[in-house]
Order: sequence, then structure tokens, then C-alpha cells
Amino acid sequence: MLSIAISVLAAGAVAAGALTGETAPPVVGSAVAPTLIARVEPSATPTPPRSAPTGSPEPAVMPTFDRSARSLDDPASLWVVVDKTRPLNPTDYAPTDLVDVPVAHVWSPQLRREASDATVALFSAFEAETGLKLQSHSAYRSFAAQVMVYDADVAANGQAFADTSTARPGNSEHQTGLAIDISALPRICSLDACFGDTPQGQWLAGNAWRFGFLLRYPADKVAITGYGYEPWHFRYIGTELATEMHATGTATLEEFFGLPAAPGYH
Ligand code: DAL
Ligand code: ZN
Repeated sequence: MLSIAISVLAAGAVAAGALTGETAPPVVGSAVAPTLIARVEPSATPTPPRSAPTGSPEPAVMPTFDRSARSLDDPASLWVVVDKTRPLNPTDYAPTDLVDVPVAHVWSPQLRREASDATVALFSAFEAETGLKLQSHSAYRSFAAQVMVYDADVAANGQAFADTSTARPGNSEHQTGLAIDISALPRICSLDACFGDTPQGQWLAGNAWRFGFLLRYPADKVAITGYGYEPWHFRYIGTELATEMHATGTATLEEFFGLPAAPGYH
């Protein structure tokens, strides 16, 4: 009688690929190919399957992404979900770690420190990889600033349209200090849907996740986000979540976290 001991060996570590290019494998959710090694041994009696001998590598088990690792409600959480049905709490929240973002800009940008660092890294990778340039159009906006932006949109376009393009004060990701509107430098299709067809917009759509950013308002998710396509608006969520959403092909925070769609205000 023969027994077969099977050792499952983890393949080599997956390259992080955080800054190495769109083709780099994602950190989380990558396939780790098991290597099966059959060892044939003589045995007098049937032997039940054995666990790996002491000291052998354990079977590779990919960690499950912990969707509860951070708060979705705390306005200071990197994963806070802000939409038409999930206003910031308190509605006049202001981050405590805003810094000036040292990138080219239309309006002087501020973001929370981690989002600022990620923006600098993204801009510099974009420039190195494409030879083109980006600039910040708008980043952190206080509650009071969002009042001005929203009121101007309503005055120019009426409230029904404004509610599809500008968040009401207290409901904007810009107030978290984690969102940035990005333009080409020089400006091409600035804050326009056609930005998505520019080399800048295309690169951002394909690569922003590597730096922890999410294209928050995709063209085909209007029924979930409640906003028209904004290929210029990127929300910093951290590289861990951005990589997981990229790897799983999940476009919106509402879908990823199983939250209700937010097409309109209550
Ligand atoms: N344009 C986005 C929805 C905002 O105003 O936050
Ligand atoms: Zn925006």
C-alpha cells in the first residue's frame, strides 16, 4: 500500500507593484499558485491524509479583506462614505491635518496630509510615465466654500441640474480633505466629461488606484452615486482599499460596502 503526502507550498511573494505600473499585480487578491509535490512512500496500512510535517510551509491562505477595518461613518476615517444619503456628521466637519499640497494648481490646494503625499506621488509618476503634466483644480472645500460652489451652480443651472453635479454643503467629499479635482496642464476639457478621453484622464482612470485614489463618479454608476460622470474627481481611500476595489472590479464605495444607492436626497 502506498500513501501520498502532498505538500502545498506557497509561491513566491507577490510583488507589491505600488509604483511600478498598471501591469503590476495587485497586492491583495492576486492568485498565488500552489505547487503540488507528490512524495510516494511505502506503507503497510491505508493512511489517512496527513497534515504537513512540522517545519513545512503552511498551505497558502490569502487573507480575506476586512471590510470592517475602518469606520464608514467617522468623517475622519479614510473610508468614510459620503453621498446624498450619508451627510458628514457633523455637517460642518473640518479635518485637523490639512496641509498645502505642493503641486501645480488653479486654486491653492489643501488636503489631509496622507492624501497630499499620495497626490504628489501620483502627479510625479504621471509626469515620469507620460511626459505630460497635471494640476489640481480644487481640493479641500470647507462647508462654507461648498455653500458658495453649490449656490453658484444652482444660480447658473437651476437646482435640479446642480444636484447632479455639485454636492449640497455637508454632503461633499471635498469637505473631508480627501477629494481632489484634477485637470490637465495646460487645461484640456477641464471639469468636463471629455477629460475622460484625454491622455491625462485615461491615465488617471487606469492608474489612480495605485496611489490610493478612486474615480468616484463613473459614467455608468449615476444611479448609484447620484452624480454625472466626473472623470476629474478622485477620492483618496488609501492603497489597501483602492487595490482591493481594483482587484475585485468594484467601482463604487456603495457597492463595495453593500450600502444603499444614493441617487437623491431623502
Ligand atoms: N462635484 C462633487 C459631487 C462635489 O461637489 O462634491
Ligand atoms: Zn470634485
